[in-house]
Amino acid sequence: MAELRFPDAFLWGAATAAYQIEGAWDEDGKGPSIWDVFTHTPGKIEGGDTGDVACDHYHRYREDVALMRSLGLKAYRFSISWPRVLPEGTGRVNEAGVDFYSRLVDELLAADIRPAATLYHWDLPLALHRRGGWPNPETAKWFADYAELCFRRLGDRVKMWITLNEPQVVAQAGHVLGIHAPGHRELGEGLQAAHTLLRAHGMAVPRLRSAAPDANIGITIDLAPVTPATDSEQDRQAAKRRSELNGWFLDPIFRGDYPTLMRQVRGDLLPEFTDEERRIVQAPIDFLGINNYTRAVIRYDPREAPLEAADVPAPGPVTEMGWEIHPPGMREILGWVNDRCSPPAIYVTENGAAFDDQPDASGRVEDEDRRIFLRDYLAQAHQAIQEGVPLRGYFVWSLLDNFEWALGFSKRFGIVRVDYRTQGRTIKRSGDWYRQVIAANSLDTEQ
Ligand code: GCO
Repeated sequence: MAELRFPDAFLWGAATAAYQIEGAWDEDGKGPSIWDVFTHTPGKIEGGDTGDVACDHYHRYREDVALMRSLGLKAYRFSISWPRVLPEGTGRVNEAGVDFYSRLVDELLAADIRPAATLYHWDLPLALHRRGGWPNPETAKWFADYAELCFRRLGDRVKMWITLNEPQVVAQAGHVLGIHAPGHRELGEGLQAAHTLLRAHGMAVPRLRSAAPDANIGITIDLAPVTPATDSEQDRQAAKRRSELNGWFLDPIFRGDYPTLMRQVRGDLLPEFTDEERRIVQAPIDFLGINNYTRAVIRYDPREAPLEAADVPAPGPVTEMGWEIHPPGMREILGWVNDRCSPPAIYVTENGAAFDDQPDASGRVEDEDRRIFLRDYLAQAHQAIQEGVPLRGYFVWSLLDNFEWALGFSKRFGIVRVDYRTQGRTIKRSGDWYRQVIAANSLDTEQ
């Protein structure tokens, strides 16, 4: 069938994150974050890029909301910069920072766009990093206090909240691999950071229940389905072991402990939950956010301790990130997570692709590759809904081309092009197409 209709009230959105678009890194009383320090350290970011200016969204948010309105977006997922509202991470409130988000939210509501706010998309206040950052268990309490401040100031208007974005990446890229801020490389530290992140999430949830009882809250986890490289028993077992890692954050939240396999192979370094922590981390959430871009293809490799599983290069075509384009993975991962966790509702909080967009002579960006990517992934999401997955909405990553972390501005994910010299915005072909999909609430898989 060519025409796929989505459920009524399906929430069509686009996503961004504070550090990737706002700029104004030290304006109006904002405190520094670990990403300000990381990007200002030579050699950390491709091209020496920083988020100092990024898309200058802090000053251009009105124009950007007008753009969203012209796309017909029903929702907009953005993140709040913790050090913009609490320059030292705790204590003193920077009213100018709160005011920025308050104005953004009002602008969205006036445009009939539902705000969805992420509390932590990686820009930890530097002051808290100096007090130990995520590996320090106390950071969970500071996070819950920060969350409550946001709920109290914005919860009258923001009804959809996401505690953490991709805590797995925070722990792994930031504390084990060292490719993200704060750039540490220690497995035990990463596992400890993850433990604090889980507690932080769990402690924030009940704060919303009292501050804004009619609002919803969830968490965003990055997930890729895992496929064995061949049909051999060894490869299949290796893929199964690797797939258990997808439960690193999900299992504590939905079942009260880390995956059994993680206990078996990393019991020495993996923190234990006390009964009290178990209860906190399992605080019931209203929805689960999933970020999906690609899949992992795994083969057995005895040299890859402790899982004896290794990634093989993508067999299919890839995006500019080198990530395999694999639309069926969307349906697969939605089914997997629904079976494993049975969340009350699911949103795809990120899905999208980086391509080397080239504007034509008239400045148009005919990004057919991105349009086809989004179309085919959405068709698979639609299929998952038919199979009973409670998918309530979808946010494309990203509204704008923006600062892609360690890769700087070299990768463009936007359905809107940003000219970083002039800060001009141009809706790409994929953006025009997305507008039509939203307006029709349906997808034509043959166009
Ligand atoms: C992530 C983040 C986004 C990225 C996007 C593309 O998934 O890493 O949530 O900030 O920009 O995913 O890599």
